[in-house]
Amino acid sequence: MASEIKKIGVFTSGGDSPGMNAAIRSVVRTCAYLGIECVGIYRGYQGMMEGDFKTLDARSVNNIINKGGTILKSARCEEFRTKEGRKKAYDQLTKEGIDAFVVIGGNGSFTGALLFNEEYKFPVMGIPGTIDNDILGSSYTIGFDTAINTVVDAIDKIRDTASSHNRLFFVEVMGRDVGHIALNAGVGAGAEEILIPEQNLGLERLLDSLKRSKASGKSSSIVIVAEGDKIGKNVFELKEYVEEHLPIYDVRVSVLGHMQRGGNPTCFDRVLASRMGVKAVESILEGKSNLMVGIKDTKLVLTPLAEAIKAHTEIDEELIRVSDIMTT
Ligand code: F6P
Repeated sequence: MASEIKKIGVFTSGGDSPGMNAAIRSVVRTCAYLGIECVGIYRGYQGMMEGDFKTLDARSVNNIINKGGTILKSARCEEFRTKEGRKKAYDQLTKEGIDAFVVIGGNGSFTGALLFNEEYKFPVMGIPGTIDNDILGSSYTIGFDTAINTVVDAIDKIRDTASSHNRLFFVEVMGRDVGHIALNAGVGAGAEEILIPEQNLGLERLLDSLKRSKASGKSSSIVIVAEGDKIGKNVFELKEYVEEHLPIYDVRVSVLGHMQRGGNPTCFDRVLASRMGVKAVESILEGKSNLMVGIKDTKLVLTPLAEAIKAHTEIDEELIRVSDIMTT
């Protein structure tokens, strides 16, 4: 049966992540390969409501596989949360003759896509793009691998100066709801303590651990703090607290911030994005909708968007244990 889908829109939405360009390239080239028209929607749902569209062919996505950020730009859009906003978007898509779209983003972006499908029966397909790696239905999201490598690289550098001065560093990393970046980069960079939103170890345990670390002969220490950590103090307050209670430590703070979202994607993220883009387009053409492409045990899988947005992925308990053992 011939597919009724002739034109597919693609856009990036929410916080950008390295590898989004590789995913856009993959969607565009898969469409070109299969003889489907592809339209880039700029600035996420905001651009969709304003009709900010541009036809993309295979050559429009030359030389972007290696670039961080997103050539289609991204936005977090409040108006699309309203019925009126979604009506504007539907009118623009219809005017342009777009039959389906692929959204590359996170939880909020998928929630919008799902609502849009419910209201207009419009075919939608999701690709998980966020550095946070917090989407149910995929062991990896596009951008996570690059982000943890960026964090590890930064911490390696901080460690050089920390050990030269026998200092303790609190390093804040991204992750407002989840600690995947903190835990993985923390283990990878050999952090002494890792504070994540999923596990409130408390200030006493932090002090004990720092005391033990000093007593065991360590001269410098790195504590990774996820931005959404629940210990009740931000990194600057933690510095003051530790300096007050453990004056043996000379403490410094480093907030890595948005540099974690930039940079050239790793090979892992480029390959993942390329695979997911092909699967997303092929799935739409098979008549599927309301799904997210994910990866599990090296195989691509499809998960209902309604499932993907239900909760954040859980932290890896085994990795927490490994981290505890490694800080001996
Ligand atoms: O969702 C990804 C993320 O990078 C979070 O880890 C972080 O809390 C947030 O985006 C920052 O968002 P913004 O760039 O809008 O400040």
